Amino acid sequence: MGIVGYVGHRNALPIVIEALKRLEYRGYDSSGCGIIHDGKLQIYKKTGKIVELERSLPEPNSCDGNVAIGHTRWATHGGPTEINSHPHADCTGTLAVVHNGIIDNYQLLKQRLEKLGHIFKSDTDTEVIAHLIEQYRKTTDNIEDAIREALKAIEGTYGLVVISEDDPDRLFCVRKGSPIIIGVSEKEMFVTSDVNAIVSHTSRVVYLQDHEMAVISKDGMNITTMDKTHVDPLISTVDWDISAIDKGEYKHFMLKEIFEQPTTIANGFRTRINEELCTARLGGLNLPMSELRKIKQIHLVACGTSYHAAMIGKYMIEDMARIPVYADIASEYRYRNPIIPDDTLVFVISQSGETADTLAALREVKAKGANVLGITNVVGSTIARETDGGTYIHAGSEIGVASTKAFTSQVTILTLLSILLARQRSLNPIQGYEYINELKKIPEKIEEILKKNDKIRKIAASIKDSTNALYLGRGINYPVALEGALKLKEISYIHAEGYPAAEVKHGPIALIDEHMPVVAIATHDALFEKVYTNLQEVKARGAKLIIITTKETPELREIAEHLICIPDTLSNLQPLLNVIPLQLLAYHVADLRNLDVDQPRNLAKSVTVD
Ligand code: G6P
Repeated sequence: MGIVGYVGHRNALPIVIEALKRLEYRGYDSSGCGIIHDGKLQIYKKTGKIVELERSLPEPNSCDGNVAIGHTRWATHGGPTEINSHPHADCTGTLAVVHNGIIDNYQLLKQRLEKLGHIFKSDTDTEVIAHLIEQYRKTTDNIEDAIREALKAIEGTYGLVVISEDDPDRLFCVRKGSPIIIGVSEKEMFVTSDVNAIVSHTSRVVYLQDHEMAVISKDGMNITTMDKTHVDPLISTVDWDISAIDKGEYKHFMLKEIFEQPTTIANGFRTRINEELCTARLGGLNLPMSELRKIKQIHLVACGTSYHAAMIGKYMIEDMARIPVYADIASEYRYRNPIIPDDTLVFVISQSGETADTLAALREVKAKGANVLGITNVVGSTIARETDGGTYIHAGSEIGVASTKAFTSQVTILTLLSILLARQRSLNPIQGYEYINELKKIPEKIEEILKKNDKIRKIAASIKDSTNALYLGRGINYPVALEGALKLKEISYIHAEGYPAAEVKHGPIALIDEHMPVVAIATHDALFEKVYTNLQEVKARGAKLIIITTKETPELREIAEHLICIPDTLSNLQPLLNVIPLQLLAYHVADLRNLDVDQPRNLAKSVTVD
């Protein structure tokens, strides 16, 4: 979900609508906007995509104005209906809010407000904020103080923007746990939860901190803490390439992002290799080499695709640096009171840097007094700012909801980390050189794989009507199988499972028949023979096998329906190559099923709620 707002000299609504379109990738079951037109607050809402909202707007001259807010919603409390879309107004309809986050005590507040006579229209937690402000407005001098009072009563997280007829030339923006960014320009100001929305207008931004309020007008901003202490705004420059937000020649962002991977991976490692010492340098970790040497355990914590990168990191670091690594799902880690012994290094991994569970895990680690580092993509994101150090993956804006290039960039950074830690321990310079040399060849090898796009589309056509699929891999390729299955299910809605190849005989083999495609990773590493045996077992049950391999041998040809032969590399780097055909396969299956590849149903790019 996303927030936008504008105050300035131009007509606000077209700007807000355009900004909302740029945010649509984050959540998109409904949207809405509010504008001060002729001193009166007007609210428009619509289910579906932003273009539906745009189409539903009245003639421009009856909805023009210089101050407006907008929101794209991904339902949490209350279904994806028009009434539940933001902005949410108070009883008088003169004040409205857009909100990201969750109000934990909203039921209690709602009951109290209803007793005081407030009438609620929606099932959302957000609506209580509007009514609370309305309630406090009765006893305070101005809207700003009413907001402060209301926030004192609220438990939960919020990124919030308030618009009001009472104070028609300004917007009130506050944050606690959910990002709010102010964009600064000449005689106009923007507000958003995601810098992508406004980067076409300004690259000068202020990241609001938790418990701060920014009051913005066309002439500037005033930032204060909740106890009214003035804060000097710290203006940062966003180094964001706008072309990244354009699909270019590609039908979908996801396809574009898959094809960008040779470049994005190279951007991840280019400046981070120490050729002379055959190791990696990751200055952002903010840790002296002597501290890194003392590390006895590593935790890698993440959600979704980033978690699959973490799993690959576990295999790599353990194998190369011989340090025990625990890869953990953030929503589990944060609540299970994790044991973090001294000399443990915790990394949180997040493309967006805003995922609520990953952020909560980070804070839990900090509460325990341990060091926590981040591997993030979005510069200035909350996770990037709250970690003690870390590394940006430099993958550029990722718009497709199904993560592709961020995944391979995360794995690239984890490879560099493995090299660095391993060189401090048992890896000799020659082995270090070999890793670096092979890493540098990955982009051109991915180019080779991308040339098989047409062939992979044909294979996709052969499985597009399946209802289930199984993805198999072993060792470091087990997380790749999980990632392949996740890609397929999230965009094609075909149920898919990733499984360790040898484990299939303990259950899933019962599912196999001629209608079940089995996508297997059988690249030629130390486990190849073992995987081959497992594949024969599933073949014997009638499975249709699609095999990703590095050598087209007669034995593989015999059991495979389709073989996708790709270049080889060191086995620890092979996931960077193996995942590419799986991304393409999922993409083409979804596209052939005419689905909305970039914005699959029920998903959000960045899940900023628990
Ligand atoms: C959502 C997205 C996934 C992503 C996950 C973690 O579920 O749809 O693509 O992998 O969140 O996001 P993060 O930004 O923390 O990597």
